[in-house]
Formats: sequence, structure tokens, C-alpha cells
Amino acid sequence: MLYYIREFPDQIHHPKEEQYLFARLRECTDECDAVIESLEHQHEEGERRVSALERALTRYELAGAGMRSALRDEVIAYAEFYANHRHLEESIILPAAQRYLTTADWVEIDEAFGANRDPFESLGNEEHLDDLYALIVQTVPDARS
Ligand SMILES: [Fe+2]
Repeated sequence: MLYYIREFPDQIHHPKEEQYLFARLRECTDECDAVIESLEHQHEEGERRVSALERALTRYELAGAGMRSALRDEVIAYAEFYANHRHLEESIILPAAQRYLTTADWVEIDEAFGANRDPFESLGNEEHLDDLYALIVQTVPDARS
């Protein structure tokens, strides 16, 4: 999961949001500037939070059960942070983009995002993602406790 977050959202998706969607929206209106600035800071903060997750995971792997609650706290904090980030994009940025951007803007944005490289695309099909899910569940069998 951490590998995926590093390779896809952090390295590809977020920079494209900033380069295409946010930039074009800024050219059309200043009504979202404060939210866009906040979202860009959150992209940077997200990378720091993933590093914190990696450290918490390593501490758990090295020290064992005593570090489990700290790892869980980091995971929960990251999930809440990211849910808030998504909510801002979905409730403010995307509706504004629908109001202000032209068809030509959307074509350019679609092309940019359509060219995204999925780090798991070479796996070929969802069966491998099912294997990954099973591995995660096996690795953390009591994650809900
Ligand atoms: Fe984002």
C-alpha cells in the first residue's frame, strides 16, 4: 500500500492535479485560490505523512506488538487526512471546474490523466489485486481489533 501511494498519488496524480486542473482553474477564477493553496500544501504534507507511516511500520516490524498502536494511530490519521483532502477536491474544486472549464480544458485534462502510469498495470488484471488484498489481510489478521 505504501509503495502504491508513493508511486501513484504522490508521484503522478497529485502533480497532475496541480499542473492541469488547479492551474487551469486558477486561470479562470480566483474564487478557489485559497482552497487550491491548501490542497497543494496537503499534497506536500501527504508525502511527509507517508514517510511517518513508513517509519511507524518499520518500528512495528522491528519492535513488534508494542509499536502496533502507534502504527494504527498513524494509519487512522493518514486515512482521515486523505478523506478530508478528497472531500475538499470533490465538494469545492470539481464543482467549480465543472462551472468554469471549457470542453477544450477537459480534453486536455483527460489526456493528461489518461496517460497516468499505474504502477500495478503490469500485473495485468484484478486477480493480482485480489492476491494483494489477501496478502494484506493475512499479514494483519486482526487489524479491526
Ligand atoms: Fe489532491
